[in-house]
Order: sequence, then structure tokens, then C-alpha cells
Amino acid sequence: MKQLWEVGSEFDWSNDFISPVRGTANLPSNYELFSTGCASLFGLEKILNHKPDRKLKLHLPCFFCMEAASKLKKAFDICWYRDLPNQKYPDFETLKACSGDLVLVVNLFGVKSAQVWQDWSKANREVILVEDHSHDPFSTWSLQSQADYAMASLRKTLPIPDGAIIWSGKNLSLPKASESESDGAYKRLSAMLLKRAYLNGGNVSKDTYRQLEVESQDSLDKIENDKVSAFSENVLSSLDIKEFRRRREANIEHFLHLTLSEQEENWQPLFYSWEDGSVPFNSIIICRNREIRDCLRKYLISKNIFPPIHWPQPHNGMTSDDLEAIDLSNRILTIPTDQRYCLDDVSRVVNIIKEFFTTREMNSSIYANSQ
Ligand SMILES: Cc1ncc(COP(=O)(O)O)c(C=O)c1O
Repeated sequence: MKQLWEVGSEFDWSNDFISPVRGTANLPSNYELFSTGCASLFGLEKILNHKPDRKLKLHLPCFFCMEAASKLKKAFDICWYRDLPNQKYPDFETLKACSGDLVLVVNLFGVKSAQVWQDWSKANREVILVEDHSHDPFSTWSLQSQADYAMASLRKTLPIPDGAIIWSGKNLSLPKASESESDGAYKRLSAMLLKRAYLNGGNVSKDTYRQLEVESQDSLDKIENDKVSAFSENVLSSLDIKEFRRRREANIEHFLHLTLSEQEENWQPLFYSWEDGSVPFNSIIICRNREIRDCLRKYLISKNIFPPIHWPQPHNGMTSDDLEAIDLSNRILTIPTDQRYCLDDVSRVVNIIKEFFTTREMNSSIYANSQ
């Protein structure tokens, strides 16, 4: 059967993701699993909020997933502080957290710095610091977390149908998931198996597994504090996480190496380096304007490359109202270069991006739209 070349979109499942040796997943000594990242934060709210007639304040970075922020709004009073993807440090002047408030510190794209938060936390001990390691759950920062709590939505970087982890660098007591399991994970796992059959050239229609992905997302979106699925829970410690991280980092380095030689005024990588012990989430680029980003995205989709936008803002009315965050969200694009791909795939993707910018008709349509 002829394998299909496709880059990005949801994970599929293959037994090749299992490590041949034991113990490659470096998990904290004490942790709890939930079905989703939001579910773990809802669980945390339940154990921290002793006054059910008022909501706890949760301070989020202004550049964040607005879908997740909308969900969290149901349980928390949301406040925003300035932390932008193109700035090394957050603007602490904008973080007006009081005693008992929660601050979500996001290691955005896995390239942010731990030290400034450790210093801030020492001077603000009465504020509850919750680190979000969804973009690099196994970084040195994450593994050595000293925060009150740390969490990661594991399904963003690992090929599992659901799963989020929460732990405490200070050994505080942890929330526990409810006994109920969402059917979302089982639909997602079915989609992952069918997607693999499709990619392998089997007689499976794309619509079939896409429909299951959509249905599974609808179910996972409704989750409160459901437990993780049996599949994700049992496979977690068997995944070849070291190898995933090695491939991810090599792919992103290769992407940067191939694009650095370009003096491109229409787009630039968001970052060129990261700290030792970190692996970026993906190759992230910033385009000169929204029209270029949207045309490029459309072109890549026509070539079977599916680049997500992390994250549109406003989204369904949810926004931080930070103008720079909104501007960046209009120009940002994630080029999928994760562990599913090899260096040749990355070269092919970069060539297609270059082809877009050198195609005359494409350029003329961009310039016509962006004048
Ligand atoms: C950085 C980050 N943290 C947390 C979440 C919430 O995770 P989940 O979708 O598993 O609830 C998301 C969701 O997109 C996210 O992007």
C-alpha cells in the first residue's frame, strides 16, 4: 500500500511509539492524572476554594489559548497579565495578584525562562503559583519544579487520546479526578487508529476519522474533572518520550538551519534558541501581516501540511484585550515539526514554504491583499 504524506493535525497511534526499554517516562514521584488540562485545574479549584459563593482569581498570560480560558472562566474569575511570545520575560508590573489568587505561569512554546518566576514567587509567597508545562512536559524546569502546583495537558505533545498530569513541587495535597470517564477519549483513540490505517494507504476515508475527532473534541470540551482514560493511563510510562524529545528538537533545529539563510521580510521564526534541558513545542513563525499568514496557511493545507494557529484571539468573544497579543495572534503560525516527522519531512516542508514565497502569482495576491 502507498503511504500518504501528510504533516500535522491530530496524532495517530502506532505501536512504534512504545519504548523498547522500560522507564523512559520521567514522571514526578507523586502526581494525579486527569482527562484534560482544564479538568486538572477544575480539580485544583475544588480543593482550594473554601467559599463556594465566590470565585478564586486566576491570572492568565495575555497570550494564551482562548478556548481554554473560556472554559476556565466557568470556575475562576479570570484576570490577565502581560506575557508575550516575542518577549523574553513577562511584564510583572501588570500582574496584580493578591494573597490566595492563582497565577498560571505558561512555559509558552517551551522556550520561556524559569528563573524570573522562581524569583517572583519567593517575593510573593502568598500567591499560588501554578506552572503550565503543556508545551514541554519533560523539561528540566518541569522536572525540577518548585511551584505550588505544576500541570501539563499531555495530549498536546504525546500521541495519547486524552491525559493531563498535575503535581506539586512543594508536596502539597493534590486534587483527585472523579470516577467518571469521558467517552471522548475512546472516540479519539478510534480516530487515531483509523488515521494510521488511512496514512498507511488503507481503505479508510478521511471523513470517518475526522468526524470521530470532532465528536471526541466536543466530549472532551465538556469535561469537568473526569479521570484519564485507561488507555492513556496505562500507555504513559511505556511511551518513548526521550526519543520523541530528541526528534522534536532535531527537527526544529533543522527547520531553523534551513530557514536562517533566508533574509525573509515576509516571515521569521519566532525564536532561534532555547534553554538547556528544554525542547520547543514546534517550529513557530511570525508573518508580516495576517493576509500573508492566512494565504500561506491555505497554501500549506493544499500541500497536505496542516499548520494550527496558537492561538486565535478574540475567539468566541474571549480576549485578553492586549493589542500586541491580538496582533501576534493574527500573524503567528505553527509549522508541525514534531516527533512524527524526520529531517527529510522538515526539508520538504521548508521547500514548500519557500516555494509559496517565490511563486509569482502567490506573491501578487499577497501584495494585492496587504497594501
Ligand atoms: C498551554 C495550554 N495549557 C492548558 C490547556 C488546557 O488543556 P486541555 O485542552 O487538555 O484542557 C491548553 C489547551 O489548549 C493549552 O494550550
